[in-house]
Amino acid sequence: MKISFVSSAQASGAAVIFSNDKANLTAGGAHYDGDVIAAAIRAAKFTGKSRQTLSVYAPKGTNTTRALLMGIADGKKFDPETSTANAVKTLLLSGETKLTVHLEGMGISPDDQARAALGGRLAAYRFDNYRTKLKDDQKPTLKSLKIACDSPAKAKAAYDAFYGPVGDGTYTARDLVSEPPNMLHPKTYSARIKKMTDMGLKVDVLGEKKMKTLGMHALLGVGLGSAHESQVAIMHWEGGKKDDKPICLIGKGVTFDSGGISLKPGAGMWDMKGDMGGSAAVVGAMEALAKRKAKANVIGLVGLVENMPDALAQRPGDIVTSMSGQTIEVQNTDAEGRLVLCDVLHYARTKYDPRVMVDLATLTGAILVSLGHEHGGLFSNSDEVADGLLGASVASTEKLWRMPMSKAYDKLLDSNCADMKNIGGRLAGSITAAQFLQRFVGDTPWAHLDIAGTAWKGTSTDPREPAWATGFGVRLLNQWVKDKFEG
Ligand code: BES
Ligand code: MN
Ligand code: ZN
Repeated sequence: MKISFVSSAQASGAAVIFSNDKANLTAGGAHYDGDVIAAAIRAAKFTGKSRQTLSVYAPKGTNTTRALLMGIADGKKFDPETSTANAVKTLLLSGETKLTVHLEGMGISPDDQARAALGGRLAAYRFDNYRTKLKDDQKPTLKSLKIACDSPAKAKAAYDAFYGPVGDGTYTARDLVSEPPNMLHPKTYSARIKKMTDMGLKVDVLGEKKMKTLGMHALLGVGLGSAHESQVAIMHWEGGKKDDKPICLIGKGVTFDSGGISLKPGAGMWDMKGDMGGSAAVVGAMEALAKRKAKANVIGLVGLVENMPDALAQRPGDIVTSMSGQTIEVQNTDAEGRLVLCDVLHYARTKYDPRVMVDLATLTGAILVSLGHEHGGLFSNSDEVADGLLGASVASTEKLWRMPMSKAYDKLLDSNCADMKNIGGRLAGSITAAQFLQRFVGDTPWAHLDIAGTAWKGTSTDPREPAWATGFGVRLLNQWVKDKFEG
Protein backbone atom coordinates (compact mmCIF):
# COMPACT_ATOMS: atom_id res chain seq x y z
CA MET A 1 0.00 0.00 0.00
CA LYS A 2 1.37 3.36 -1.01
CA ILE A 3 1.38 5.89 1.82
CA SER A 4 1.41 9.66 1.50
CA PHE A 5 0.65 12.75 3.54
CA VAL A 6 -1.31 15.73 2.22
CA SER A 7 -2.32 19.03 3.78
CA SER A 8 -6.01 19.22 3.22
CA ALA A 9 -7.60 17.62 0.31
CA GLN A 10 -10.84 16.55 -1.11
CA ALA A 11 -10.41 12.86 -1.62
CA SER A 12 -10.76 10.90 -4.77
CA GLY A 13 -11.76 7.38 -3.90
CA ALA A 14 -12.99 6.80 -0.38
CA ALA A 15 -12.73 9.29 2.46
CA VAL A 16 -12.87 8.61 6.17
CA ILE A 17 -14.13 11.32 8.48
CA PHE A 18 -14.15 10.85 12.22
CA SER A 19 -16.94 12.09 14.39
CA ASN A 20 -17.71 12.04 18.07
CA ASP A 21 -21.29 13.15 17.90
CA LYS A 22 -24.00 13.34 15.29
CA ALA A 23 -23.51 17.02 14.51
CA ASN A 24 -19.82 17.25 14.92
CA LEU A 25 -17.70 15.98 12.05
CA THR A 26 -13.96 16.51 12.19
CA ALA A 27 -12.47 19.19 9.96
CA GLY A 28 -12.28 16.85 6.97
CA GLY A 29 -16.06 17.00 6.82
CA ALA A 30 -15.84 20.50 5.36
CA HIS A 31 -14.83 19.00 2.02
CA TYR A 32 -18.11 17.21 1.54
CA ASP A 33 -21.64 18.32 0.89
CA GLY A 34 -22.94 19.11 4.36
CA ASP A 35 -26.61 18.69 3.47
CA VAL A 36 -26.13 15.25 1.98
CA ILE A 37 -24.15 14.10 4.97
CA ALA A 38 -26.59 15.65 7.46
CA ALA A 39 -29.49 13.88 5.78
CA ALA A 40 -27.65 10.57 5.91
CA ILE A 41 -26.82 11.09 9.58
CA ARG A 42 -30.50 11.70 10.38
CA ALA A 43 -31.67 8.74 8.35
CA ALA A 44 -29.19 6.32 9.90
CA LYS A 45 -29.40 7.61 13.48
CA PHE A 46 -25.64 8.06 13.45
CA THR A 47 -24.51 9.40 16.84
CA GLY A 48 -20.72 9.18 16.63
CA LYS A 49 -20.49 6.36 19.14
CA SER A 50 -17.32 4.34 18.83
CA ARG A 51 -17.53 1.54 16.25
CA GLN A 52 -20.55 3.14 14.54
CA THR A 53 -19.98 3.70 10.84
CA LEU A 54 -22.01 5.38 8.15
CA SER A 55 -21.27 5.27 4.45
CA VAL A 56 -22.42 8.13 2.26
CA TYR A 57 -22.00 7.09 -1.33
CA ALA A 58 -20.69 9.54 -3.92
CA PRO A 59 -21.47 12.70 -1.94
CA LYS A 60 -22.76 15.37 -4.31
CA GLY A 61 -20.22 17.76 -5.83
CA THR A 62 -17.15 15.70 -4.91
CA ASN A 63 -14.85 13.16 -6.56
CA THR A 64 -15.31 10.73 -3.75
CA THR A 65 -16.84 7.32 -4.22
CA ARG A 66 -17.93 7.38 -0.63
CA ALA A 67 -17.41 9.28 2.58
CA LEU A 68 -17.24 6.90 5.51
CA LEU A 69 -18.11 8.45 8.84
CA MET A 70 -16.57 6.59 11.75
CA GLY A 71 -17.70 7.15 15.32
CA ILE A 72 -14.93 7.73 17.82
CA ALA A 73 -16.78 8.73 21.01
CA ASP A 74 -15.74 6.20 23.62
CA GLY A 75 -14.70 8.45 26.49
CA LYS A 76 -11.02 7.92 25.69
CA LYS A 77 -8.52 10.19 23.99
CA PHE A 78 -8.71 9.88 20.20
CA ASP A 79 -6.09 7.43 19.00
CA PRO A 80 -5.21 8.19 15.37
CA GLU A 81 -3.24 4.96 15.01
CA THR A 82 -5.95 2.45 15.86
CA SER A 83 -8.63 4.63 14.29
CA THR A 84 -6.77 4.68 10.98
CA ALA A 85 -6.20 0.95 11.36
CA ASN A 86 -9.95 0.52 11.76
CA ALA A 87 -10.57 2.59 8.66
CA VAL A 88 -8.18 0.53 6.57
CA LYS A 89 -9.53 -2.73 7.93
CA THR A 90 -13.06 -1.64 7.06
CA LEU A 91 -12.18 -0.73 3.48
CA LEU A 92 -9.37 -3.14 2.63
CA LEU A 93 -11.51 -5.51 0.56
CA SER A 94 -14.28 -3.04 -0.24
CA GLY A 95 -13.49 -2.46 -3.90
CA GLU A 96 -12.07 0.96 -3.12
CA THR A 97 -8.50 1.42 -4.34
CA LYS A 98 -7.77 4.80 -2.77
CA LEU A 99 -8.43 6.02 0.74
CA THR A 100 -7.97 9.42 2.33
CA VAL A 101 -8.16 9.54 6.12
CA HIS A 102 -8.95 13.03 7.37
CA LEU A 103 -7.01 14.08 10.45
CA GLU A 104 -6.88 17.82 9.80
CA GLY A 105 -7.76 20.27 12.54
CA MET A 106 -7.86 17.63 15.24
CA GLY A 107 -4.84 18.85 17.21
CA ILE A 108 -2.78 15.78 16.36
CA SER A 109 1.03 16.01 16.57
CA PRO A 110 3.18 15.27 13.50
CA ASP A 111 4.43 12.13 15.23
CA ASP A 112 0.87 10.92 15.74
CA GLN A 113 0.01 11.77 12.13
CA ALA A 114 2.87 9.46 11.11
CA ARG A 115 1.71 6.84 13.60
CA ALA A 116 -1.69 6.92 11.96
CA ALA A 117 -0.05 5.87 8.71
CA LEU A 118 1.70 3.02 10.51
CA GLY A 119 -1.64 1.93 11.96
CA GLY A 120 -3.10 1.82 8.45
CA ARG A 121 -0.13 -0.08 7.14
CA LEU A 122 -0.25 -2.67 9.92
CA ALA A 123 -3.98 -3.18 9.32
CA ALA A 124 -3.36 -3.88 5.63
CA TYR A 125 -1.08 -6.85 6.35
CA ARG A 126 -1.99 -10.14 4.68
CA PHE A 127 -0.22 -13.47 4.31
CA ASP A 128 -1.59 -14.75 1.01
CA ASN A 129 1.57 -16.39 -0.41
CA TYR A 130 0.04 -19.84 -0.45
CA ARG A 131 -3.51 -19.07 -1.60
CA THR A 132 -4.29 -19.88 -5.21
CA LYS A 133 -8.07 -19.69 -5.08
CA LEU A 134 -8.90 -16.31 -3.58
CA LYS A 135 -12.18 -15.04 -4.95
CA ASP A 136 -12.37 -11.46 -6.09
CA ASP A 137 -14.25 -10.35 -3.00
CA GLN A 138 -11.55 -11.91 -0.81
CA LYS A 139 -8.72 -9.94 -2.36
CA PRO A 140 -7.51 -6.63 -0.97
CA THR A 141 -8.32 -3.74 -3.28
CA LEU A 142 -6.89 -0.79 -1.37
CA LYS A 143 -3.67 0.40 -3.01
CA SER A 144 -3.10 3.83 -1.55
CA LEU A 145 -3.57 5.54 1.79
CA LYS A 146 -3.42 9.32 2.09
CA ILE A 147 -3.26 10.92 5.48
CA ALA A 148 -4.76 14.40 5.26
CA CYS A 149 -3.21 16.27 8.17
CA ASP A 150 -1.94 19.61 9.48
CA SER A 151 1.81 19.05 9.06
CA PRO A 152 2.29 16.66 6.15
CA ALA A 153 5.99 17.41 5.65
CA LYS A 154 6.84 16.73 9.29
CA ALA A 155 4.62 13.68 9.36
CA LYS A 156 6.27 12.30 6.24
CA ALA A 157 9.70 12.89 7.75
CA ALA A 158 8.71 11.00 10.92
CA TYR A 159 7.23 8.22 8.85
CA ASP A 160 10.27 7.83 6.61
CA ALA A 161 12.73 8.05 9.48
CA PHE A 162 10.97 5.81 11.97
CA TYR A 163 7.50 4.37 11.44
CA GLY A 164 8.05 3.15 7.89
CA PRO A 165 11.08 1.04 8.88
CA VAL A 166 9.13 -0.24 11.93
CA GLY A 167 6.29 -1.26 9.63
CA ASP A 168 8.72 -3.06 7.30
CA GLY A 169 10.29 -4.94 10.20
CA THR A 170 6.90 -5.91 11.59
CA TYR A 171 5.80 -7.20 8.19
CA THR A 172 8.97 -9.30 8.01
CA ALA A 173 8.41 -10.78 11.46
CA ARG A 174 4.79 -11.61 10.62
CA ASP A 175 5.85 -13.24 7.35
CA LEU A 176 8.47 -15.36 9.10
CA VAL A 177 6.07 -16.52 11.82
CA SER A 178 3.41 -17.30 9.20
CA GLU A 179 5.69 -19.29 6.87
CA PRO A 180 4.96 -23.01 7.15
CA PRO A 181 7.65 -25.20 8.72
CA ASN A 182 8.31 -27.22 5.56
CA MET A 183 9.31 -24.00 3.82
CA LEU A 184 11.02 -22.19 6.70
CA HIS A 185 13.52 -24.49 8.38
CA PRO A 186 16.93 -23.56 9.81
CA LYS A 187 18.76 -23.58 6.47
CA THR A 188 16.16 -21.66 4.45
CA TYR A 189 15.80 -19.26 7.37
CA SER A 190 19.52 -18.47 7.57
CA ALA A 191 19.63 -18.10 3.78
CA ARG A 192 16.92 -15.47 4.07
CA ILE A 193 18.83 -13.66 6.80
CA LYS A 194 21.99 -13.66 4.64
CA LYS A 195 20.11 -11.56 2.10
CA MET A 196 19.82 -8.81 4.70
CA THR A 197 23.32 -7.66 3.73
CA ASP A 198 21.38 -5.60 1.14
CA MET A 199 20.21 -3.41 4.02
CA GLY A 200 23.73 -2.70 5.24
CA LEU A 201 23.85 -5.45 7.87
CA LYS A 202 26.83 -7.77 8.17
CA VAL A 203 25.72 -11.36 8.50
CA ASP A 204 27.58 -14.47 9.73
CA VAL A 205 26.12 -17.95 9.96
CA LEU A 206 27.43 -20.74 12.17
CA GLY A 207 26.73 -24.28 10.94
CA GLU A 208 26.82 -27.47 12.98
CA LYS A 209 30.52 -28.09 12.36
CA LYS A 210 31.47 -24.73 13.81
CA MET A 211 29.03 -25.12 16.70
CA LYS A 212 30.61 -28.47 17.58
CA THR A 213 34.04 -26.88 17.83
CA LEU A 214 32.51 -24.18 20.03
CA GLY A 215 30.92 -26.83 22.24
CA MET A 216 27.30 -25.75 21.77
CA HIS A 217 25.93 -29.15 22.69
CA ALA A 218 22.79 -27.86 24.38
CA LEU A 219 21.65 -26.25 21.12
CA LEU A 220 22.93 -29.08 18.94
CA GLY A 221 21.12 -31.68 21.07
CA VAL A 222 17.77 -30.12 20.17
CA GLY A 223 18.48 -30.50 16.44
CA LEU A 224 19.65 -34.13 16.60
CA GLY A 225 16.31 -35.52 15.46
CA SER A 226 15.92 -33.11 12.56
CA ALA A 227 16.82 -33.66 8.92
CA HIS A 228 17.72 -29.98 8.73
CA GLU A 229 21.04 -28.62 9.89
CA SER A 230 20.89 -26.28 12.89
CA GLN A 231 22.14 -22.75 12.39
CA VAL A 232 23.01 -19.66 14.36
CA ALA A 233 22.63 -16.49 12.30
CA ILE A 234 24.27 -13.28 13.47
CA MET A 235 23.34 -9.84 12.15
CA HIS A 236 25.56 -6.85 12.88
CA TRP A 237 24.39 -3.26 12.73
CA GLU A 238 27.21 -0.79 13.36
CA GLY A 239 25.56 2.61 13.55
CA GLY A 240 27.10 3.74 16.84
CA LYS A 241 30.52 4.96 17.90
CA LYS A 242 33.35 2.62 17.05
CA ASP A 243 34.14 1.53 20.61
CA ASP A 244 30.64 1.56 22.07
CA LYS A 245 29.93 -1.91 23.42
CA PRO A 246 27.11 -3.56 21.47
CA ILE A 247 23.57 -4.35 22.48
CA CYS A 248 22.83 -8.02 21.81
CA LEU A 249 19.32 -9.11 20.79
CA ILE A 250 18.86 -12.87 20.93
CA GLY A 251 15.97 -14.90 19.55
CA LYS A 252 14.60 -18.42 19.88
CA GLY A 253 14.15 -19.75 16.38
CA VAL A 254 12.65 -23.22 16.72
CA THR A 255 11.20 -23.50 13.22
CA PHE A 256 8.96 -26.33 14.37
CA ASP A 257 8.54 -27.65 17.89
CA SER A 258 6.99 -31.12 17.89
CA GLY A 259 8.23 -31.56 21.45
CA GLY A 260 10.76 -34.15 20.24
CA ILE A 261 10.64 -37.52 22.03
CA SER A 262 8.54 -35.80 24.71
CA LEU A 263 6.06 -35.41 21.85
CA LYS A 264 3.31 -32.81 22.14
CA PRO A 265 -0.34 -33.86 21.78
CA GLY A 266 -1.59 -33.59 18.18
CA ALA A 267 -4.32 -31.00 18.66
CA GLY A 268 -2.90 -27.54 18.08
CA MET A 269 0.62 -28.85 17.39
CA TRP A 270 0.52 -27.04 14.06
CA ASP A 271 0.86 -23.69 15.71
CA MET A 272 4.37 -24.64 16.79
CA LYS A 273 5.37 -23.46 13.32
CA GLY A 274 5.37 -20.10 15.10
CA ASP A 275 7.90 -21.21 17.70
CA MET A 276 10.47 -19.02 16.01
CA GLY A 277 8.57 -15.85 16.96
CA GLY A 278 11.39 -14.59 19.18
CA SER A 279 13.88 -14.85 16.34
CA ALA A 280 11.42 -13.21 13.96
CA ALA A 281 11.17 -10.22 16.30
CA VAL A 282 14.96 -9.94 16.36
CA VAL A 283 15.23 -10.19 12.57
CA GLY A 284 12.44 -7.62 12.12
CA ALA A 285 14.04 -5.28 14.65
CA MET A 286 17.43 -5.53 12.91
CA GLU A 287 15.71 -4.64 9.65
CA ALA A 288 14.04 -1.61 11.23
CA LEU A 289 17.31 -0.46 12.84
CA ALA A 290 19.25 -0.84 9.59
CA LYS A 291 16.61 0.86 7.49
CA ARG A 292 16.42 3.85 9.76
CA LYS A 293 20.20 3.88 10.25
CA ALA A 294 19.98 3.74 14.04
CA LYS A 295 22.89 5.39 15.85
CA ALA A 296 23.76 2.35 17.93
CA ASN A 297 25.80 -0.83 17.69
CA VAL A 298 23.40 -3.76 17.77
CA ILE A 299 24.00 -7.45 17.16
CA GLY A 300 21.08 -9.81 16.55
CA LEU A 301 21.72 -13.51 17.15
CA VAL A 302 19.15 -16.19 16.40
CA GLY A 303 19.37 -19.89 17.20
CA LEU A 304 17.62 -21.78 14.39
CA VAL A 305 16.72 -25.38 15.15
CA GLU A 306 13.96 -27.86 14.43
CA ASN A 307 12.79 -30.09 17.32
CA MET A 308 11.73 -33.51 15.98
CA PRO A 309 11.41 -37.08 17.26
CA ASP A 310 13.69 -39.55 15.49
CA ALA A 311 15.98 -42.50 16.18
CA LEU A 312 18.81 -39.99 16.49
CA ALA A 313 16.83 -37.49 18.54
CA GLN A 314 17.86 -36.60 22.05
CA ARG A 315 16.12 -38.55 24.82
CA PRO A 316 14.65 -37.54 28.16
CA GLY A 317 17.44 -38.42 30.57
CA ASP A 318 20.28 -37.35 28.28
CA ILE A 319 22.92 -35.12 29.83
CA VAL A 320 24.45 -32.47 27.57
CA THR A 321 27.34 -30.09 28.11
CA SER A 322 26.55 -26.51 27.16
CA MET A 323 29.11 -24.14 25.67
CA SER A 324 29.50 -22.58 29.11
CA GLY A 325 30.70 -25.94 30.44
CA GLN A 326 27.65 -26.36 32.65
CA THR A 327 25.93 -29.73 32.24
CA ILE A 328 22.18 -30.11 31.76
CA GLU A 329 19.99 -33.13 32.39
CA VAL A 330 17.34 -33.06 29.67
CA GLN A 331 14.31 -34.35 31.56
CA ASN A 332 11.88 -33.17 28.90
CA THR A 333 12.85 -32.69 25.26
CA ASP A 334 9.93 -30.27 24.87
CA ALA A 335 11.68 -27.71 27.08
CA GLU A 336 13.99 -27.09 24.12
CA GLY A 337 13.90 -23.32 23.75
CA ARG A 338 16.04 -22.73 26.83
CA LEU A 339 18.57 -25.30 25.52
CA VAL A 340 18.88 -23.31 22.30
CA LEU A 341 19.05 -19.94 24.04
CA CYS A 342 21.56 -20.89 26.73
CA ASP A 343 24.27 -21.52 24.15
CA VAL A 344 23.46 -18.43 22.11
CA LEU A 345 23.43 -16.27 25.27
CA HIS A 346 26.78 -17.66 26.34
CA TYR A 347 28.23 -17.18 22.88
CA ALA A 348 26.97 -13.59 22.65
CA ARG A 349 28.32 -12.73 26.07
CA THR A 350 31.76 -14.21 25.64
CA LYS A 351 32.27 -13.21 22.02
CA TYR A 352 30.88 -9.66 22.00
CA ASP A 353 31.07 -8.44 25.62
CA PRO A 354 27.71 -6.67 25.24
CA ARG A 355 26.60 -3.78 27.45
CA VAL A 356 23.20 -5.48 27.66
CA MET A 357 21.46 -8.56 26.25
CA VAL A 358 17.77 -9.10 25.63
CA ASP A 359 16.38 -12.43 24.53
CA LEU A 360 12.93 -13.04 23.10
CA ALA A 361 11.30 -16.44 22.97
CA THR A 362 8.00 -18.23 22.68
CA LEU A 363 9.30 -20.09 25.69
CA THR A 364 6.48 -21.40 27.85
CA GLY A 365 2.80 -22.26 27.71
CA ALA A 366 2.76 -21.12 31.33
CA ILE A 367 3.13 -17.45 30.33
CA LEU A 368 -0.23 -17.79 28.55
CA VAL A 369 -1.75 -19.00 31.80
CA SER A 370 -0.27 -15.98 33.62
CA LEU A 371 -0.74 -13.15 31.13
CA GLY A 372 -2.92 -14.45 28.28
CA HIS A 373 -2.44 -12.69 24.96
CA GLU A 374 -2.24 -9.22 26.51
CA HIS A 375 1.27 -8.82 27.87
CA GLY A 376 4.61 -10.41 27.20
CA GLY A 377 6.42 -11.60 30.33
CA LEU A 378 9.51 -9.59 31.26
CA PHE A 379 12.24 -11.12 33.43
CA SER A 380 15.47 -9.33 34.25
CA ASN A 381 18.51 -9.23 36.49
CA SER A 382 18.60 -5.42 36.20
CA ASP A 383 15.99 -2.89 37.30
CA GLU A 384 17.44 -0.38 34.89
CA VAL A 385 17.07 -2.68 31.89
CA ALA A 386 13.61 -3.76 33.02
CA ASP A 387 12.44 -0.16 33.47
CA GLY A 388 13.82 0.82 30.08
CA LEU A 389 11.94 -1.99 28.41
CA LEU A 390 8.74 -1.20 30.30
CA GLY A 391 9.00 2.40 29.13
CA ALA A 392 9.52 1.31 25.54
CA SER A 393 6.62 -1.09 25.90
CA VAL A 394 4.26 1.76 26.78
CA ALA A 395 5.59 4.01 24.00
CA SER A 396 5.43 1.26 21.38
CA THR A 397 2.07 -0.17 22.54
CA GLU A 398 3.63 -3.66 22.74
CA LYS A 399 2.79 -4.46 26.32
CA LEU A 400 5.05 -6.13 28.86
CA TRP A 401 4.56 -7.11 32.48
CA ARG A 402 7.47 -7.72 34.81
CA MET A 403 7.61 -11.10 36.53
CA PRO A 404 9.61 -12.04 39.64
CA MET A 405 12.85 -14.02 39.82
CA SER A 406 14.67 -15.34 42.91
CA LYS A 407 16.99 -17.97 44.36
CA ALA A 408 14.05 -20.04 45.57
CA TYR A 409 12.79 -20.44 41.99
CA ASP A 410 16.32 -21.11 40.77
CA LYS A 411 16.67 -24.00 43.21
CA LEU A 412 13.83 -25.84 41.47
CA LEU A 413 16.26 -26.55 38.63
CA ASP A 414 18.78 -28.47 40.70
CA SER A 415 19.38 -31.97 39.34
CA ASN A 416 20.73 -34.94 41.21
CA CYS A 417 22.96 -36.03 38.37
CA ALA A 418 24.03 -32.84 36.49
CA ASP A 419 24.54 -29.13 37.15
CA MET A 420 20.86 -28.52 36.41
CA LYS A 421 17.82 -30.06 34.77
CA ASN A 422 15.90 -28.36 31.99
CA ILE A 423 12.50 -28.31 33.73
CA GLY A 424 11.50 -27.05 37.14
CA GLY A 425 8.28 -28.91 37.82
CA ARG A 426 4.64 -27.99 37.48
CA LEU A 427 4.62 -24.63 39.25
CA ALA A 428 5.86 -21.23 38.04
CA GLY A 429 6.89 -22.65 34.67
CA SER A 430 7.73 -19.32 33.03
CA ILE A 431 9.82 -18.24 35.98
CA THR A 432 11.85 -21.43 36.20
CA ALA A 433 12.49 -21.14 32.45
CA ALA A 434 13.83 -17.61 33.03
CA GLN A 435 15.93 -18.83 35.97
CA PHE A 436 17.43 -21.44 33.67
CA LEU A 437 18.50 -18.75 31.20
CA GLN A 438 19.89 -16.59 33.98
CA ARG A 439 22.40 -19.32 34.80
CA PHE A 440 24.08 -18.46 31.47
CA VAL A 441 24.24 -14.67 31.56
CA GLY A 442 26.78 -14.10 34.34
CA ASP A 443 26.69 -10.48 35.47
CA THR A 444 25.82 -9.04 32.06
CA PRO A 445 22.69 -6.85 32.33
CA TRP A 446 20.01 -8.99 30.73
CA ALA A 447 16.30 -9.30 30.14
CA HIS A 448 14.24 -12.20 28.86
CA LEU A 449 10.89 -11.65 27.15
CA ASP A 450 8.57 -14.64 27.07
CA ILE A 451 6.32 -13.87 24.10
CA ALA A 452 4.53 -17.24 23.78
CA GLY A 453 1.20 -15.42 24.33
CA THR A 454 1.83 -12.40 22.14
CA ALA A 455 3.73 -13.64 19.05
CA TRP A 456 0.53 -15.06 17.63
CA LYS A 457 -3.11 -15.13 18.58
CA GLY A 458 -6.06 -17.28 17.65
CA THR A 459 -8.27 -14.31 16.83
CA SER A 460 -7.49 -10.69 16.24
CA THR A 461 -8.85 -8.18 18.75
CA ASP A 462 -6.77 -5.24 17.53
CA PRO A 463 -7.36 -3.74 14.04
CA ARG A 464 -3.60 -3.42 13.59
CA GLU A 465 -3.12 -7.15 13.88
CA PRO A 466 -4.04 -10.00 11.55
CA ALA A 467 -5.72 -13.12 12.85
CA TRP A 468 -2.43 -14.88 13.51
CA ALA A 469 1.16 -13.61 13.58
CA THR A 470 1.44 -10.22 15.29
CA GLY A 471 5.12 -9.36 14.79
CA PHE A 472 5.30 -8.60 18.52
CA GLY A 473 8.67 -7.33 19.67
CA VAL A 474 9.88 -5.46 16.60
CA ARG A 475 8.37 -2.17 17.58
CA LEU A 476 9.31 -2.62 21.21
CA LEU A 477 12.99 -3.35 20.54
CA ASN A 478 13.27 -0.57 18.00
CA GLN A 479 11.74 1.92 20.46
CA TRP A 480 13.95 0.72 23.28
CA VAL A 481 17.12 1.15 21.22
CA LYS A 482 16.00 4.61 20.17
CA ASP A 483 15.03 5.78 23.66
CA LYS A 484 17.95 4.31 25.59
CA PHE A 485 20.97 4.15 23.31
CA GLU A 486 20.80 6.78 20.61
CA GLY A 487 21.28 9.79 22.89
N1 BES B 1 7.31 -23.66 22.38
C1 BES B 1 6.83 -24.15 23.62
C2 BES B 1 6.07 -23.09 24.42
C3 BES B 1 4.77 -22.60 23.84
C4 BES B 1 3.56 -23.13 24.26
C5 BES B 1 4.75 -21.56 22.94
C6 BES B 1 2.37 -22.64 23.75
C7 BES B 1 3.56 -21.07 22.44
C8 BES B 1 2.37 -21.59 22.85
C9 BES B 1 8.00 -24.64 24.48
O1 BES B 1 9.06 -25.17 23.77
C10 BES B 1 7.46 -25.73 25.34
O2 BES B 1 7.11 -26.74 24.81
N2 BES B 1 7.45 -25.49 26.64
C11 BES B 1 6.94 -26.45 27.55
C12 BES B 1 7.88 -26.47 28.72
C13 BES B 1 7.63 -27.60 29.67
C14 BES B 1 7.96 -28.93 29.02
C15 BES B 1 8.48 -27.38 30.91
C16 BES B 1 5.55 -25.98 27.97
O3 BES B 1 5.33 -24.78 28.08
O4 BES B 1 4.70 -26.84 28.14
MN1 MN C 1 8.81 -27.23 23.36
ZN1 ZN D 1 9.33 -24.49 21.89
